[in-house]
Order: sequence, then C-alpha cells, then structure tokens
Amino acid sequence: MTYTARCHDPCVLSGETNLLPSTRSPDSQTENLDETYRHTITVHGREYQQYSIDNEISFQPVDRDEANRLKLQNKVFNKIFDNRLIFPRNCEPQRVLDCGHGAGSWAIQVAEEFPECEVIGVDISPHMIPDGDDDDFDVGENLEFQVDDLNRPFTFPPRYFDLVNSRMMATGIDGSRWSSYIQDIKRVLKPGGWVQLVEIYFNVQSDNGSLTEKHALRQWSTKLMSSVEDVKDLRVGTRLRDLLLAAGLKEVESTMIPVPLCEWSSEPRMRDIGKASRKITRHLLTAVALYPLTQRLHMSHDEFQQLIDQAQKEAENPSLKTYFPLYVAIGRKPS
Ligand SMILES: C[S@@+](CC[C@H](N)C(=O)[O-])C[C@H]1O[C@@H](n2cnc3c(N)ncnc32)[C@H](O)[C@@H]1O
Repeated sequence: MTYTARCHDPCVLSGETNLLPSTRSPDSQTENLDETYRHTITVHGREYQQYSIDNEISFQPVDRDEANRLKLQNKVFNKIFDNRLIFPRNCEPQRVLDCGHGAGSWAIQVAEEFPECEVIGVDISPHMIPDGDDDDFDVGENLEFQVDDLNRPFTFPPRYFDLVNSRMMATGIDGSRWSSYIQDIKRVLKPGGWVQLVEIYFNVQSDNGSLTEKHALRQWSTKLMSSVEDVKDLRVGTRLRDLLLAAGLKEVESTMIPVPLCEWSSEPRMRDIGKASRKITRHLLTAVALYPLTQRLHMSHDEFQQLIDQAQKEAENPSLKTYFPLYVAIGRKPS
C-alpha cells in the first residue's frame, strides 16, 4: 500500500476557503511520505512512533499488538452500535473522512458497505494499517489512507465531505485544540453534512457504590488523567455535545452508553458486550497507560505491571459492576 502525507504548504492553507480551485482533487494536496513518520522507538517492549512522542501528539503504541487491540475494540463497537457505522439516519454519503483511522477497521467497513462512496482515512501513524499480505484485507478503490497531524489546521477543501467520523481521539487531539478541531470538521463538511464523535471517558465507574479511590482501576484512571493533563483532555467525551453546539452545528444529539468491563449485567445484550470487552480490557489498560505512566509519571515498570494485574482482577469481578462511560454525539452543518 502506498501512503501519502498531506501538504501543509502556505498557499494550500491560505486557500482554505476561496483561493483553492474547487476542482482540485485531494490527491494534488499530498506528497510522498517522509521517512520521519516511519521511525519508531521501543519502550518496555512496545513500539511507538518517534514523531508522535517527540511532538507530544500521541503516547499510544503503533505495533501489531495495538493494531490487533483496535480491531478487537472495533468488534466491541460493532456490538454496541448493532453494526451501524453511520449514526445519522438520513445520511447517504458520497465522501467520508475518518479522523485517526488507527487499524482502519471503521474506514474499511464503510468503504465496503458504501462502494460508491469515497472514504479517506487520516492518521499521524502509517504503521497499523494492514498490508497487502493480510488475507482479510483488500483495499477497495474507494478507500485511501493519508498521513497528517489533525492538531494542525485541516488542508481539505471546504464543503468537501458528507460525513466526518472521529472516534477515540481524546488521547491524540490536544486539549486546547478541540474547539478549532470541531470548527475544522465543520468547515470541510458540505452544508447538510454530518459529524459523528465517539469517545470513551477513561474514568472507570460503578453505580453500586462498591468502587472506591483505593481500587486499582480508580488509581489507573486518576494517574492516566494526570499524566497527560498538560497536553490532552481525556474528559472531552463529557463535553462533545457542548462543543458541537458551540461550533454552530444543528440537530445535535448525544448519549452516554455504559460499556461494562465484564459480563456482570443480567441483561443479555449488555452481558454479551461485557463478555467481549473483558477480552480486551487488559490490552486497553496497558496500551493506553504504559507510556504515560512509566515515561511521564516515572512509575517503574514493575509497579505498572502490578497496577495492571490488580486493575484487571477488579475489571473481571462481576460484583464491582464496573463500566467505562462511552459518549456519542452527532451534529449537522446548517444548509
Ligand atoms: C485510539 S486510536 C483510534 C483508532 C480508530 N479511530 C478506532 O476507533 O479504532 C487513535 C488513533 O488516532 C491517531 N492519532 C492520534 N492523534 C492524532 C493526531 N493528532 N493526528 C492524526 N492522528 C492521530 C493514532 O495514531 C491512532 O491511530
């Protein structure tokens, strides 16, 4: 697969409204991928993109384990959303942007389900997309992946996409960037186009009063939040609705879905989701927090492993009834 990087040359940016010829294709706004984006470093056995670490963009691994975790997480999302990829009911997209495509699962599914639709995925890391050797992956002509830092102003033409998807980006979008990120999304949407946002709030919850600050799961949450609070807003899920309204989007709807960490629910559907999420909880707890806790909070690797072991036991304890709040919001650009 060939990857391209989006250009940030000043004339493209200054032409973000009128100067850009409307016939210009996004291809003409990309260039060959700079090797800088490919360099990785290894920390406690996990691979990280050097560029992301150096520029405090993302502290999550970019290795095969992470790609597998994101694919499994996508399966959990498919259960949560009953296999619906696009939430607005009246959206029949011709062109879709996936912000932070990760292992590419959502973008690949959309490209397959809507073969007439052009799907563009953007990510700072080119590492996790399946390659041509991967049996279950066949890139359709309607799917393209590009490298860019979404913390920088978008270089897509205005009024270009029918739908912009942004899922699980709290660990990558700068805390102070969220308002302008939503404004950028609005700018590249066609009038009447939709944005859909999905974010987990990594503060583990339980409604039966059994989870206290002494529990490892709560310590994991608190430490994770504080480890990156200077650069990221991991609470952003709780304000997705306000962000969309403040940006002037209409028909805004939002909801919070509790994602059980194991199969504690008596309700069969939630039990099934809990069973699936239990399989990825350890991977999630490790992947999201390893770099922040050991490199930014200077926790020793042994201490980190102990915290994860204990947190995992608690996650599997049905009497604690733990869940991650998952926030979902949609909004429409006025016609
Ligand atoms: C948690 S993963 C989510 C992947 C995918 N959206 C999903 O739901 O499966 C976050 C992805 O966003 C990418 N990312 C983080 N910050 C980014 C940024 N500022 N610009 C572009 N991509 C970014 C990471 O490289 C990673 O692939």
